[in-house]
Amino acid sequence: MMHPDTELRYINDQIGYGVFATKFIPKGTIVWVLDDLDQVLEPSFVEKLDPLRKQEVQKYSFRNQFGQYILCWDKARYVNHSFHATCVATMYDLELAARDIHPGEELTDDYGTLNLDEPFDCFPEAGTDRSRVMPDDLLRYYRQWDEIAAGAFEHFNHVKQPLKHLIRPEHREKLNAIMEHRMPLDSVIQLYYKPPSKK
Ligand SMILES: C[S@@+](CC[C@H](N)C(=O)[O-])C[C@H]1O[C@@H](n2cnc3c(N)ncnc32)[C@H](O)[C@@H]1O
Repeated sequence: MMHPDTELRYINDQIGYGVFATKFIPKGTIVWVLDDLDQVLEPSFVEKLDPLRKQEVQKYSFRNQFGQYILCWDKARYVNHSFHATCVATMYDLELAARDIHPGEELTDDYGTLNLDEPFDCFPEAGTDRSRVMPDDLLRYYRQWDEIAAGAFEHFNHVKQPLKHLIRPEHREKLNAIMEHRMPLDSVIQLYYKPPSKK
């Protein structure tokens, strides 16, 4: 589920819709968490879908480290890509605000963390050498994303967390240990899924 202080806005005909902050969302806030209304679809199920629905699922879902397609039930499926993403992925089925997000700013992901099936040609952005998102970007940029996530986690216990109750039970103990510096943060390199054809 997406943070409650967000809304869907139409951007333009090329990009379509995106998710925008309606209130200040401080760095370290959980901006998205996997919840039990999200659909987790097996690759074999998606593979057999009719082309119309398969295309929609591929556009609006991402793949986890097991190759499953996660199709979010709410506006989370409308989060756009940016090489300067305002949200950062973690190993705990949640994303954090990578920096302070001000009202009217867009919540974006780096699609490099999403195990894309195909390279994604996005709109060019200043301040990056990247022009395409590649399915194996996690292997190239995980250190950068780990550093951003570590910085965001520093704020985790000092900001309001309206989605905290939705953190999956299997991650709660680990997250507490990380906050108390008893355990290190898991690297997002472990999110990488290698499709069987490329093994
Ligand atoms: C998960 S959807 C996001 C919601 C989408 N904007 C919409 O209104 O349906 C992903 C699609 O959004 C568009 N998109 C997202 N980020 C983009 C970017 N940085 N450059 C170009 N297109 C983008 C592409 O069409 C992409 O396939």
